[in-house]
Amino acid sequence: MGNALSNLVKLLQNSPIEDFQSILAQAKVTAKDVQGHCFFSDQYYTRNLVCADKHFELIVLCWRGKQRTPIHDHNNSEGWLKVVEGKVTETIYEWDKILKKANLQNTISHVELEPGGTSHVNDDMGVHTICNPSTQDSITLHLYAPRIEKCHYVDTKNASIKEKILGFYSIAGKPQADS
Ligand SMILES: [Fe+2]
Repeated sequence: MGNALSNLVKLLQNSPIEDFQSILAQAKVTAKDVQGHCFFSDQYYTRNLVCADKHFELIVLCWRGKQRTPIHDHNNSEGWLKVVEGKVTETIYEWDKILKKANLQNTISHVELEPGGTSHVNDDMGVHTICNPSTQDSITLHLYAPRIEKCHYVDTKNASIKEKILGFYSIAGKPQADS
């Protein structure tokens, strides 16, 4: 694990969740620091688990150009992201977390984030989609507290909400057999 990454993990393990946003914002993590967790797929963006703790998980996401997430919630967790390399866009839509209903007509925010850029989301703020808008690869770091083992996403074919169990392409730098 790159030194800046292992320092970040140690800091998170010894800090309250209230400090996570500023810790991630201040962390200076480069592509070299996360290279042991970078696996790209032409099929889909990949989720690569760096560290799972009782209170949080830290994940590296690797995006080929134009890859995107479905519009999804965070199952009552707090989520923060930081761009390590390349760029991503984040679009947040209105979400009724009790009824699990998205209002895709109401875009709450749309931002383009460059290296060092951060964002924060939770179910009170809405549901979001992340996209690599460019043709170059992007790498992002994601912090969830508590861990997210499943989420809900919008099936845009018929606007229904579906549940998804979240898996990892790699764990601690090792690709998983079924990924
Ligand atoms: Fe998300």
